[in-house]
Amino acid sequence: MSSSPITIATSPPTPPAINTNFVLPSTSPLSAGFGDRYNRRISVNLGSSDNVRHPKVLHPVDNEGLRLLILENISQEAVAVFTAQGFRVDHFAKAMTEDELVAKIPEYHAIGIRSKTKITERVIKAAPKLLAIGCFCIGTNQVDLITAAKAGIPVFNSPFSNSRSVAELVISEIIALSRQLFQRAYEMRTGVWNKQSKGCWEIRGKTLGIVGYGHIGAQLSVLAESFGMRVLFYDVVNIMPLGSARQVPKLSNLLAEADFVTLHVPELKETTKMISTKELLQMKRGSYLINNARGQVIDIPALVEAVKSGHIAGAAIDVFPMEPGANNVPFDNQVNSWAAELCALPNVILTPHIGGSTEEAQRMIGEEVAAALTSYLNYGSSYGAVNFPEVDLRAISADQSNHIRICHVHKNQPGVLKQVNEVLSPYNVEKQYSDSKGDVAYLMADIADVSQADVNKLRAIISKTPANILTRLLA
Ligand SMILES: NC(=O)c1ccc[n+]([C@@H]2O[C@H](COP(=O)([O-])OP(=O)(O)OC[C@H]3O[C@@H](n4cnc5c(N)ncnc54)[C@H](O)[C@@H]3O)[C@@H](O)[C@H]2O)c1
Repeated sequence: MSSSPITIATSPPTPPAINTNFVLPSTSPLSAGFGDRYNRRISVNLGSSDNVRHPKVLHPVDNEGLRLLILENISQEAVAVFTAQGFRVDHFAKAMTEDELVAKIPEYHAIGIRSKTKITERVIKAAPKLLAIGCFCIGTNQVDLITAAKAGIPVFNSPFSNSRSVAELVISEIIALSRQLFQRAYEMRTGVWNKQSKGCWEIRGKTLGIVGYGHIGAQLSVLAESFGMRVLFYDVVNIMPLGSARQVPKLSNLLAEADFVTLHVPELKETTKMISTKELLQMKRGSYLINNARGQVIDIPALVEAVKSGHIAGAAIDVFPMEPGANNVPFDNQVNSWAAELCALPNVILTPHIGGSTEEAQRMIGEEVAAALTSYLNYGSSYGAVNFPEVDLRAISADQSNHIRICHVHKNQPGVLKQVNEVLSPYNVEKQYSDSKGDVAYLMADIADVSQADVNKLRAIISKTPANILTRLLA
């Protein structure tokens, strides 16, 4: 590990660029309705017009400059977002061990990691100033989410930034399978010239069956239609189809009609082995199966049999029940007992979980997580947090100079709001919102006409309430 960080900015906090392109997470109350799924990107371009009320830039009242520890070579776009806010960023290329983190983290207010750095209970307990954790990736298993929540620390990630990358990969697989492209390319590499058209098809006019019509399934639907495919989909939710796609009521309807079946469902009890022998037999003879979702969704030994029998003409698999933990280690029967048999099948494309691995996806992950962290640190908004109640308030405008924002993380127990509201009762509470998740609750309140002397008093009193986990005042 490199021992000295690249210090990106040491300047005192400067007025940040006004927040733009805030993306509501799928779980936010504003995007909860299914109809809003495709309207998720809400542009809040507050700085571009003189006709709008400009939001006030908020800073912690204790005025301590915020320090961020950014590990694992997170994208420069993300670092640029933080430096634009005036945060001091220490940027390391590698992950840190638990001991290294415990030594380093006490000074920092936020940390950005990918999947290799583990934020354990010990690390969290060694981080008295830590306000937020950003996972610049899809998963958050590397963080002890419950301990973080109990310490008042929201964890942000970016679950959907790579949807387009996956959808494009599926299109390439549909064409490669229907032209037996990998088979021919492999033969050429082994010195075999084998020109043939038997069993090779155009995809125009063929039927694509999409199982799971979420972020990826819906993108794929549009791309497939532009190639002249007919699109069917099956989802447990009723969804407005895009283009000319058609939702079918049962999985068996889709399996019976589709030339290509592609899976885009989450890993759940109900989706484990949702494609096994019975479902493979329901698929058309000569059809193809594609799985870029999760490794448990297909019963792979059943697929091996279906390909060997000729019922299934080919498959593309990007995800596996067990996957090697690092590059350049074998993918063999020690990892999955059927690996050798699967690898020996003709017209089966196997890829090492690369569905979402593109530079564009990495850049979008960087921007999205950086925006979520910044929005929490500067404005208290916890939208997008995976372990924490999601709460936000509309901005305090620039002309509301003596307004303050109270961000109060507390234990989820009766009587807290009454206590806090008693403290706030001499003031005009302009707006207030509270929510809870598990043992943790989060209250945001904007208070008008607060003098500087009162600010410190308010913080001291609320911080001493029995359920207090963390109280921040932004002004
Ligand atoms: N290969 C990769 O690198 C890669 C990259 C990104 C995502 N993924 C995986 O792709 C999958 C889909 O991702 P997404 O972002 O589109 O998810 P999403 O949450 O946006 O969509 C999932 C859809 O599946 C539906 N669904 C849930 N249970 C179902 C069931 N039993 N039957 C039918 N439909 C069901 C949901 O209603 C939803 O519409 C996830 O498993 C994700 O982990 C893989």
